[in-house]
Amino acid sequence: MNHLKSSFEQFLLENKYLDEPPGLFEPINYILALKGKRFRPILLLAAYRAYDADFAQAMPAAMAIEVFHNFTLLHDDIMDEAPLRRGEMTVHKKYDPNTAILSGDAMMISAYQWLSKYAHLPNFSAILNTFSNTALDVCRGQQMDMDFEESWEVKTDDYLDMVRLKTAVLLGASLKIGALIAGASVDDANNFYEFGIRAGLAFQIQDDILDSFGRVAAVGKQIGGDILQNKKTFLLVQTLAKTKDKKGLIEFMKKTADHETKIKKVKELMIKTGALDAADMLRDDFYEQSLELLDELHIPAEQKEFFSELALKMARRMF
Ligand code: IPE
Ligand code: IPE
Ligand code: MG
Ligand code: MG
Ligand code: MG
Repeated sequence: MNHLKSSFEQFLLENKYLDEPPGLFEPINYILALKGKRFRPILLLAAYRAYDADFAQAMPAAMAIEVFHNFTLLHDDIMDEAPLRRGEMTVHKKYDPNTAILSGDAMMISAYQWLSKYAHLPNFSAILNTFSNTALDVCRGQQMDMDFEESWEVKTDDYLDMVRLKTAVLLGASLKIGALIAGASVDDANNFYEFGIRAGLAFQIQDDILDSFGRVAAVGKQIGGDILQNKKTFLLVQTLAKTKDKKGLIEFMKKTADHETKIKKVKELMIKTGALDAADMLRDDFYEQSLELLDELHIPAEQKEFFSELALKMARRMF
């Protein structure tokens, strides 16, 4: 895992964006140089390696996925009004929102350029479709995430639809594309995708938990941001479902201007109603489900072992 990560970091260093004008490309280097966990490129490279040891062949695709992911972060941080990312200022704060929009656009286009390096492969259209469908799914999920800020009737299934789209599909697609580039069967590629979806749901539930209950030094983001934005995280959906005074909680969340008071009270309720415990359980449930999908894959046992460790790291978000 560390080997895949350090190889990818090396590739990033060797492929800085040095084009003109700097106003467009510097922010791209800035975000890419910050310490990301690099889960998506690791997943892609590992899926490729399960079929062919020479994973350097998959590096441009890993780059496409990480550049695309970082593009979504630039725009997500504008949408979420987030001041901090990976422990540093977000691009729209360090530069300005227009820069974050345009550098983000350039990154999305650049991601396609990286992917087009595989145009010679016989299954390139399957690879390209996977990427494009996934990119559009992420937009769908992000729109649902924003729509849900205004809704107080979001159900667990709505939440799961939303996080599958905004987060899990890109993790699944990373694995699927890695497998497709290696020439794996369509069945294996699809099972890798489903494994990534399950592990990705665990990953996003843990992201929600850490957004409210993590420490800024470890998470690198503002703690309580989701609560301030009325995000319908699994924690809040459960709290709204379980509290005895739903109307009171909605009123409180809508009108409380003081950040500290709002975060503190909502976190107390998340614990008191059992929502936090429910989130821990659902996360672990998806992690367990992801392991079952590994059984279906036609890859060596030690490779399955590697992916099961990776799924645990995703569910815990440690790296
Ligand atoms: C953040 O993804 C966005 C989500 C889908 C939750 P990561 O937690 O993978 O962010 P980095 O790339 O490691 O910073
Ligand atoms: C982001 O979800 C998903 C995408 C970037 C597509 P979040 O808004 O929960 O991610 P963080 O918490 O800001 O990393
Ligand atoms: Mg966000
Ligand atoms: Mg968001
Ligand atoms: Mg989050």
